[in-house]
Amino acid sequence: MPIVEYKNGMFSDIKPEEGLKKALSLSRGEVISIITDSGLKGRGGAGFPCGTKWNLAASASDEEKYIICNADEGEPGTFKDRVLLKEYPNLLFEGLTIGGYAIGAKKGILYLRGEYTYLLKGLLQVLEERRKNNLLGEKILGKDGFNFEIEIRMGSGAYICGEETALIESLEGQRGEPRNRPPFPVNTGFMGHPTSVNNCETLVLSARILAKGADYFKSFGTPKSTGTKLLSVSGDCKKPGVYELPFGVTIKELLKIVDGEDAKAVQIGGASGFCIPKKDFSRKIAYEDVSTGGSVIVFGEKRDMLDVAINFAEFFVEESCGQCTPCRFGTVEILKGLKNLKKGDLSLSMLKELLSLGKTMQLASKCGLGQSAPNAFISIVENFPDEVLGREEV
Ligand SMILES: Cc1cc2nc3c(=O)[nH]c(=O)nc-3n(C[C@H](O)[C@H](O)[C@H](O)COP(=O)(O)O)c2cc1C
Ligand code: SF4
Repeated sequence: MPIVEYKNGMFSDIKPEEGLKKALSLSRGEVISIITDSGLKGRGGAGFPCGTKWNLAASASDEEKYIICNADEGEPGTFKDRVLLKEYPNLLFEGLTIGGYAIGAKKGILYLRGEYTYLLKGLLQVLEERRKNNLLGEKILGKDGFNFEIEIRMGSGAYICGEETALIESLEGQRGEPRNRPPFPVNTGFMGHPTSVNNCETLVLSARILAKGADYFKSFGTPKSTGTKLLSVSGDCKKPGVYELPFGVTIKELLKIVDGEDAKAVQIGGASGFCIPKKDFSRKIAYEDVSTGGSVIVFGEKRDMLDVAINFAEFFVEESCGQCTPCRFGTVEILKGLKNLKKGDLSLSMLKELLSLGKTMQLASKCGLGQSAPNAFISIVENFPDEVLGREEV
């Protein structure tokens, strides 16, 4: 599996504003067709096809529409959007402008993670330069009828505000709590208007697709997971960092690249993802196999997997918004159970009850937070029963 390497660094395969110029030479429908043809799926975790989302927002009958760049990046172990915001802000705003053009929005909002406030000044300067260069404002690059502005709004430091409907609530000045769906944001989003919420990486890739074409994009990855993925790699490896790799790369190949081949497990997808043990390192990073928003945490031989499970469980107790019972109650019970297990004070039948509670949370929680909160706990108990329980099976 080749690493994606460009002579002059990441994204040097495209020229500044190449994608935006191309988009503005096409109709909105043609832009959406190219994105649909590329197979681009959302890079924020859920993997929803970007072309379908843009098409739904574009065809909603409302004059007022919004496109939001989700830069809340709160998943433990994820820092690839920070690199895009810091190193490639023009490319990010280019993608947001392309998305605005495609869906017919006059306004884009960058929802910036509260902890990234230090990036705000630089981002505002970039926006000001874009206004001076007619890349924002009225009649962008001379395109009649295309007026588009971008505003930056700060998040307030809650993981749940990365969930798109909680993010919209937060933008509207309410508590960041997920909404019931339907209606979906593409129909009823920010201030009740059609809204496309897209991850930073999705938007950056849309600029590349417009610049280089759908076939170029599809030449990377697998048929079901086209293109490349930014992976934020941390933990027990010698070369942590952000890597751009084609979908389909195996965990084993990734560990070789980051010099972490001694790992006994890898957490893919952050706290809400799954813990993959060594015996499964031939599995592929792809939507059809092991899916991830970008977080990869490597665990070496010396890590205590029960401590790892407790650490993730504490995170979910802290971050659950408390709105629905399976998540509010389940996250606390899982943490209590794991702490008792650590003290040697949890019976096997009680552990089985907890696993069953975890499965109920996956099914019955209102949003992705509660649905994914038990993933790490279940996969660690199932894959490391000897470490967690001192026996071979649960
Ligand atoms: C608890 C929770 C946190 C999330 N955090 C983020 C985030 O920080 N960034 C992000 O892009 N998507 C996040 N998402 C996913 C968003 O709800 C949404 O699917 C995504 O922004 C859509 O963009 P995409 O289609 O480009 O992936 C989160 C989802 C959940 C359930
Ligand atoms: S699953 Fe958790 S975070 Fe989501 S709405 Fe329910 S309580 Fe809130």
